[in-house]
Amino acid sequence: MHVPEELLARLREHRQEHLLAHWDNLEDPEREHLLGELEEVDFAKILSLYGRRKERVGALAAHNLRPLDFLKLADQSASQISRWERTAAGEFRAGRVAALLVAGGQGTRLGHNGPKGSFPFAIPSGRTLFELQALRLLNLGRRFGKPVPWLVMTSPINDADTRAFFAEHGFFGLDPKDVFFFSQGQLPAVGEDGRLLLEAPDQLALVPDGNGGVFAALARSGGLDWLKARGVKSVFLYSVDNAIVRVCDPALLGFHVESGKAVTCPVVRKAGPGERVGIFVDTDEGSCVAEYSDISEEMRNAADERGHLLYDGANLAIHVLDVGVLQDAAEQALPYHSAFKRVPWCREDGTIVLPEKENAWKFEQFMFDVFPRFGKMAALEVERSDWFSPIKNSSGNDSPATAIRMMLDLHSRWLVEAGVLAPDDPRKFEISPLWSYAGENLRGRTISELLEKGAVVQA
Ligand code: UD1
Repeated sequence: MHVPEELLARLREHRQEHLLAHWDNLEDPEREHLLGELEEVDFAKILSLYGRRKERVGALAAHNLRPLDFLKLADQSASQISRWERTAAGEFRAGRVAALLVAGGQGTRLGHNGPKGSFPFAIPSGRTLFELQALRLLNLGRRFGKPVPWLVMTSPINDADTRAFFAEHGFFGLDPKDVFFFSQGQLPAVGEDGRLLLEAPDQLALVPDGNGGVFAALARSGGLDWLKARGVKSVFLYSVDNAIVRVCDPALLGFHVESGKAVTCPVVRKAGPGERVGIFVDTDEGSCVAEYSDISEEMRNAADERGHLLYDGANLAIHVLDVGVLQDAAEQALPYHSAFKRVPWCREDGTIVLPEKENAWKFEQFMFDVFPRFGKMAALEVERSDWFSPIKNSSGNDSPATAIRMMLDLHSRWLVEAGVLAPDDPRKFEISPLWSYAGENLRGRTISELLEKGAVVQA
C-alpha cells in the first residue's frame, strides 16, 4: 500500500510529513486507517486557525461591550408566572417543545472514564445525570399527555458508550423513538510548533470541535428535519453537567414564547470574580456570552461605583431557542476559540507522552456565538439554589460533593414548603423527578407515605 501522491504533496505543502513517521512499521489495516484520517483533514483550515490562535473572537471581537440587563423571576407576581406556565402547557400539549442536550465533551476535569452523563453520581438513589434529566422529561410528557422529544449530541469519543448506557437502562422509561442521538465533529490538535499531533502511530490526535458544533451536526444528522417533522418550535438547549437542571422548565418556556425573542436564557449572579462561568453581555451586534477563558483579568474584576461586579450575569449553559435559530446557525461559520491544553501524543519513536504541561492547541466553537445574529435576547434571573449546580471537578467546588449537597438541600426545602417536613427537621431527602418536577405533588402527603411509594429516598 502506498501513500497517494496527492496526499503526499498536501502534507509537504503544509509541513506535515511527520504524520507518516510510522508508515513503514504499520500493517495494512493501520495504514488504511491513517490514510482515511489524513484524507479528512482540511490542513489549510486547521493551520489558518493555528495562525490566528491569539486573535479575539466571539463576544470579545464585538463592539461596545456592556453588561446585559435581565428580568428577575423573584420580582414577578404569582399570576405572571402562572400565565407563563399556562402558555408553556399549550406548547407542550401541541408537541412544540424539545430538549437538546450537548454531551460530546471530554469531561477531563471530572476524571470520569465514560460519558459525563453516566457518572455514578453518588446521591441516595444512585441516579446518574442522564437519568435525572430523563425522568424530568418523562414527568412533563405525562403531565401534558405528549412525549417531549430529546436530542442528545455525543462525540466520536463517547457516542457508542452513550447509546449503550441508554439501552442498558431501558432509556430510563422513555420511548426510544422519542430520543435522537447524533455525533459532533472533531478537529486535529496542533502542537506548539504548528505540527499536527499523532495520538498513536496510525491515529491523529483529534478533539471534539466544541459545543458550537451542535448546529452543523444537528443538520447533518437529520436531527433538524426530525424536529421540524414533529412540529417543534422551541428547543431547550443545555449542557450535561448541571445536577439540578430544570430540563424544559415550563415557566422559562412560557417566558420565552411570550417575549417573542428568538433566544432566551436564564441567568444567575456570579458567585465571585473567579467563578469559571461565561457572562452575559450586550454588544452593538446583539446579546451574547463572553466566555470565562477569553475575558481579561480587568473585565473579570470590573466593579461599579458601589463595588458590585459589573459583569455578573452568569451563563448556566441553558438556552431556549426558536427552531429557526437552529436552522440559521447550521448555515453559519461560527468562529473558533483556541485553548492551549495538555494532549497526549505519540513520539516519532512510538512512545506515548502524557504531558505534564500544556503542549497543544485545541479549537472549539461555542454554541452561544450564534446569538448576536438574533439581536437582543430575553434573559431571566433565577435562583442559583433552584437552578444551577454543575459537576465539573472531582473534588472541591462544582464537584459531586457540592452537587449532592445542593440537590438534597433543594429537595428537602420543597418538602418543608409543602408542609411534609417541619422546618427544623434535620433529615435530608432526595425526591424522584418523576414524582415531582419542582416541588409540586407533595402537599398533603406524609414522609412515610412518600418513602413507601418510592417518591423520596432518605440520605
Ligand atoms: C460552559 C459554558 C459557560 C458556562 C458553563 C456553566 C460554553 C462554551 N461554556 O462552560 O459559559 O458558564 O458551561 O456550567 O458553553 N460539549 C460538547 N462538545 C464539545 C465541548 C463541550 O458537547 O466539544 C458539551 C459538554 O459535554 C457540556 C457542555 O458542552 O455538556 C459544556 O461544555 P464544557 O466544555 O464543559 O464548558 P464549561 O467550561 O463547563
